[in-house]
Amino acid sequence: MQKTLVILKPSAIQRGLVGEVISRFEKKGLQLIGMKMIYLTDEILEEHYAHLKDKPFFQRIKESMKVSPVIVLALKGVDAVEVVRKMAGITNGREAQPGTIRGDYSMSVQENIVHASDSPETAQTELERFFSTTELFNYPQLMHPNIYANDEC
Ligand code: TYD
Repeated sequence: MQKTLVILKPSAIQRGLVGEVISRFEKKGLQLIGMKMIYLTDEILEEHYAHLKDKPFFQRIKESMKVSPVIVLALKGVDAVEVVRKMAGITNGREAQPGTIRGDYSMSVQENIVHASDSPETAQTELERFFSTTELFNYPQLMHPNIYANDEC
């Protein structure tokens, strides 16, 4: 079982898409194992988006991510990282496939509704960045036998 991190960006909060997006993950069969609303700071954004720190638009990214609180989610499932990335769609909402979250709800590169971890290693680092161990929950997923065959996990 993998765990992954999703951030519902200010674009999701401001546009009233929180329920819609979380509902997609629930319906898919991913297990919600952590969730909270927080304000992001420059410090945490500089760590989280370190790979973009030298880009000319980095200041704009930081400002956009601080417009409102965000919601951080921890999701669990078989191949959860890749499943969630596919559900999010590619970065540019205008080019993302219809049926994906960005493809259905975004017209923008920055205002693209969600962040999703891009590898299992990144997911672990990002989960540790946003959640303490007591904020991540380990509980049985009662529909497990209806979500997976018994040789899938
Ligand atoms: P990135 O990690 O490349 O994409 P993704 O969110 O799909 O993993 O970029 C992080 C965020 O930075 C992205 O969601 C939106 C913003 N961004 C821009 O505004 N312009 C850009 O050219 C890129 C690459 C990213």
